[in-house]
Amino acid sequence: MNKNVVELLNAQVNKEFFSAYLYLGISKYFTKENLPGFASWYRVQAQEEQEHAMKIYDYLLDNDEDVRLSQIAQVDVNFDSALEAAKDADKHEHYITGEIVKIMDAAVEAKDYSTQLFLDWFITEQAEEERNSKDMIAKIEMVGCDKKSLYLLDKEVGSRKS
Ligand code: FEO
Repeated sequence: MNKNVVELLNAQVNKEFFSAYLYLGISKYFTKENLPGFASWYRVQAQEEQEHAMKIYDYLLDNDEDVRLSQIAQVDVNFDSALEAAKDADKHEHYITGEIVKIMDAAVEAKDYSTQLFLDWFITEQAEEERNSKDMIAKIEMVGCDKKSLYLLDKEVGSRKS
């Protein structure tokens, strides 16, 4: 495989694990805020991110490339509100989409058609992730400061399955 594509995929393994770590941090924030539904939603998301990382991990190994398991950065999980946590997640997803697009650009430049096909799944997934985080922000904004509505929303989002 093209060296630059391998390097970018390796970096993405770390970024996906960081995403899992970030979502786990958000989940922990909601647990501390006594909002178990939100905590569960973000914990499911953390599991999904680990699956994303492992997809790339397996792809590299299946192509006889090495996988670098580099250090995962610390997560700052001091949020002032549910809305701030949801906005942080949304900002991160947009960043990840940009990183996936960069790998796709490198694969196109290298005429690496297998990696382009592989990345198609991630492009579709990122569109869904961005939609989910946007929906979450909209729901939290709708609830505003109404504690009863927040309690009901917590019940609703807690029904998300992995
Ligand atoms: Fe794996 Fe949420 O990006």
